[in-house]
Amino acid sequence: MQLFIDTAKPDEIRQALKWGFIDGVTTNPTLASEVGKPYKDVITEILGMVNGPVSLETIADDAVGIVREGLALSKLQSNVYVKIPCTLAGYEATKTLTSEGIKVNMTLCFSVNQALLAAKVGASFVSPYLGRVDDFTDGLGDEFISRVRHVYDNYHFKTKILAASIHDVEHVSQVAEMGADIATVPFAILREMTDHPLTKLGQAKFHKDWQDSGLTLPI
Ligand code: G3P
Repeated sequence: MQLFIDTAKPDEIRQALKWGFIDGVTTNPTLASEVGKPYKDVITEILGMVNGPVSLETIADDAVGIVREGLALSKLQSNVYVKIPCTLAGYEATKTLTSEGIKVNMTLCFSVNQALLAAKVGASFVSPYLGRVDDFTDGLGDEFISRVRHVYDNYHFKTKILAASIHDVEHVSQVAEMGADIATVPFAILREMTDHPLTKLGQAKFHKDWQDSGLTLPI
């Protein structure tokens, strides 16, 4: 499974890239609005440091507008995935863009049918919103991801399942078990994934035993 970072903050992306387990970046208008810099500057900084897929979202509500924005975003760099909501206009625009070879991530996906249609119009990624589905259905988000997986496997669709709206560390392991191709994870949750109380306890004992022994490194 690939791991993306779900943020538009260049500092978080820079740090996560150093950790070594990040394959790409997803942004959205809300995340971009939190950075506090002009959007063009933010995108330029992100694209300057990320080689993997970077999802940049359109804002227009009509197909013509989405296509216009999508074309402009896709021209910025070859690793840009145009992020388009699962609306009727979004499907129409996605079909137009994918027919021209432009990579699309269909977002705001809340049903198996929306995911099915994203595959039909040639999206590279579909983003089922696990956390928000969980919030509205009393914890059925993981079932949602596995149902999309089942449908995609039935028909050998090439669209990748990009589990989004990850709200805690459990969500990450759940989507890995459910067969998501990618999970996009906020910075704080990525860091929390490395954490385990027994690792900390074990490390403290190793340090104490090492100090007591008088052994030294490097050899
Ligand atoms: O990038 C889209 C998605 O991950 C947003 O998540 O937490 O706003 O539901 P959230």
